[in-house]
Amino acid sequence: MNAQPFTYQQLQALHDIAGDLATPGEFHEALQRALNRMSDQLGVRRGMISIYLRDIEELRTIVANNMTEEETDRARFAPGEGITGRVLREGRAIIVPRIAEEPAFLNRSGTRNKDANPEMSFICVPICFGAEVVGTLSADFTALGEADLQREQALLEAIAHLIASRVERRRMIEENKRLKELESTDGNSIIIGSSDAVKHVRQMIAQVADSRTTVLLTGETGTGKGLVARAIHRASPRRDQPFVHLNCGAIPEHLVESELFGHEKGAFTGAVANREGRFEVAGSGTIFLDEINSLPSQAQVKLLKVIQDRQFERVGATRSIHTNARIITATNRELEKEVEEGRFRADLFYRLNVFPILIPPLRNRGADIMLLTDHFIARYAEEMGRKVERIDTPAIDLLMAYHWPGNVRELENAIERAVLLSEGGVITTRCLPPSLQMKSMEERAGTRGRLEQLVAAYEMGLIKDALKDAGGNQTKAAQLLETTKRIIQYKIAKYDIEYRNFRKSGR
Ligand SMILES: Nc1ncnc2c1ncn2[C@@H]1O[C@H](COP(=O)(O)OP(=O)(O)OP(=O)(O)O)[C@@H](O)[C@H]1O
Ligand SMILES: [Mg+2]
Repeated sequence: MNAQPFTYQQLQALHDIAGDLATPGEFHEALQRALNRMSDQLGVRRGMISIYLRDIEELRTIVANNMTEEETDRARFAPGEGITGRVLREGRAIIVPRIAEEPAFLNRSGTRNKDANPEMSFICVPICFGAEVVGTLSADFTALGEADLQREQALLEAIAHLIASRVERRRMIEENKRLKELESTDGNSIIIGSSDAVKHVRQMIAQVADSRTTVLLTGETGTGKGLVARAIHRASPRRDQPFVHLNCGAIPEHLVESELFGHEKGAFTGAVANREGRFEVAGSGTIFLDEINSLPSQAQVKLLKVIQDRQFERVGATRSIHTNARIITATNRELEKEVEEGRFRADLFYRLNVFPILIPPLRNRGADIMLLTDHFIARYAEEMGRKVERIDTPAIDLLMAYHWPGNVRELENAIERAVLLSEGGVITTRCLPPSLQMKSMEERAGTRGRLEQLVAAYEMGLIKDALKDAGGNQTKAAQLLETTKRIIQYKIAKYDIEYRNFRKSGR
């Protein structure tokens, strides 16, 4: 049977609801207004809007009409549970022509006992954004014929589209808020950097934070994987729950399972008492498994099971323990290669690799080196109670030219040392570790005579420093270097130095 065409009254209601939802204002209020219109103008007996909370994987009713607050609060569904949960999972509408005849009908809110009218129809439609189901819209009607039911379904679907953009808008606003927090300058978990790579990493953190999604962090040693893991936790709704960090590579193989899952007294030699594992400690917080590539194969099997069933047993125990922890893993090895070579389970890899974040090496993020340097100078100067006013140009050149195999950690260590060695408030090349000087000399020696290159680099640095101190004034710079203006001009041209950049307003 074909659906009936919309009536004028229904079109009018759709128009009004669209207007309500497009009006700026509080999220819940806007949705409530839409439901009220559905009951006033469309004869809906009871309407319900439920939103999927990705974080706890639960569909929760956030506004309803003709229901008390308590009844609304009871209307929660796991994906697949009852009619509403099924609509969420399957992403398509379900019509129940007669509630009384439908065994899958849960009556979760308990409201159907009150007016035990069996002659009710129920329609539930998904609220979709793109391919993703973000919630459900459901409504009770006084029993309708089949053609009417189909028309009501089409109407609800139209309203669900309107609601979807409002839900999505709110999510974008929240994502932006998280992004702002990540960029703000408080706390020492802030991720410094203005390179596109770091911006992208911050965006991904903001995107993934509010879900339970497993995140895999990859990047060379010292690129900031630990920092990013903590940032995800802090930006998530779990921020007040524990953050548990376990380095899988740092524990003897035979103790890994007991460390992760705990053990019962007597489970193995040395297990003298019951002990809870890191998963239990994490509770509903975040568990960060570092160097996941070194997880022994037995433990890999168990971890896979935890991800699939959210359950585990302590070593030596039979009782299963439920976990709601979010899992973040990290590796500085290429995990795909470990899989290819049979050292890491493919099925586990796919489970961990749902949301990969790659942190590029520091040498590819030139723009960040200076920002990080300034940041670490400020931090260590304060910590050591030393005054560091500047870092001279030759030292900057060395920092920029170096290839940083130890990435940000190596830079941090170099700066800590440099602050300690600084004299007269200035960090010079002599304050930097020998490894930097060696490397840059090797690189420079490649092309032309080594001495000539070194001297030129040194001379250029001296001139730039003098220009900086002289605010770009060539005569003054010449005086500082005890030479003539003519020589300074000649060298500026020879080294192609932009002396205007050193004027006070520039720089
Ligand atoms: N973008 C950044 N902004 C500020 N500090 C950073 C940044 N990236 C890294 N760091 C700092 O550098 C140090 C090393 O970072 P971290 O320990 O997170 O690296 P990692 O990738 O976990 O290294 P590994 O693989 O060796 O464990 C830390 O002190 C961290 O705070
Ligand atoms: Mg680390």
